[in-house]
Amino acid sequence: MARTPLIAGNWKMNLDHLQAVAFVQKLHWTLKDAKHEDGSVEVAVFPPFTDIRTVQTLLDADKIPFALGAQDLSAQDSGAYTGEVSGAFLSKLDCGYVIIGHSERRQYHGETDEVVAAKVQAALRHGIVPVICVGETLEQREESGPTAVSVEQLRVALAGLPADADVVIAYEPVWAIGTGQVASPEQAEEVCGALRAVIGEVLGADAAERTRILYGGSVKAANIAAFMREPDVDGALVGGASLLVDEFAAIIRYQKHVGV
Ligand code: PGA
Repeated sequence: MARTPLIAGNWKMNLDHLQAVAFVQKLHWTLKDAKHEDGSVEVAVFPPFTDIRTVQTLLDADKIPFALGAQDLSAQDSGAYTGEVSGAFLSKLDCGYVIIGHSERRQYHGETDEVVAAKVQAALRHGIVPVICVGETLEQREESGPTAVSVEQLRVALAGLPADADVVIAYEPVWAIGTGQVASPEQAEEVCGALRAVIGEVLGADAAERTRILYGGSVKAANIAAFMREPDVDGALVGGASLLVDEFAAIIRYQKHVGV
């Protein structure tokens, strides 16, 4: 079964709703000008919550074929949880995806593996595909090797899910995020392969075969093709480079320079 590559732009806390409109329109035009074949790669943008309604309206009105996602959601569905955003609200806004357990949430907001698991369940309750982020710090890599931390994080996140659960996994080594210190394609493949084995153990062979695993951490136009050549890397979760129209468009068009 061929997995459709997914190139996902995690804007983090950048671009207000007006800047978001200009950005999405420009990205769309840039891909059109380049005669990019829609559907060869799935493109998803993950704006801040305050932009989502605006971006949804734009994608809909201009028939722009990008998927829309949020950067987080509440583990709860409704109630007295000041400042939280329910998956129910996100699914009403046509959010097909939600990033869960990004290392910045784990680090700055104390999200544990158990919180991540609860949020994964919440996303699935509302028909939203969770993009489950895992990855090790440099100290953890030195202490327990390249795969142990990500494998354990993923086991907890997937526990108890049905075999047909629709999820995306993102392997993002913490030491490579926003640092310019990119993992090698071989390092990415080693962990992504181990994560696919975990999906197989927990959810079964079909899930392992169909689930997309992304690499994230200092992805750029100049290095995406090498990652995409690896058999267990099905796309990228892109931070900094997803805020630059030409750079992100070039990442999306990696198939044109995959042989380079
Ligand atoms: P980066 O961020 O591409 O800026 O390293 C990736 C991410 O945090 O998802």
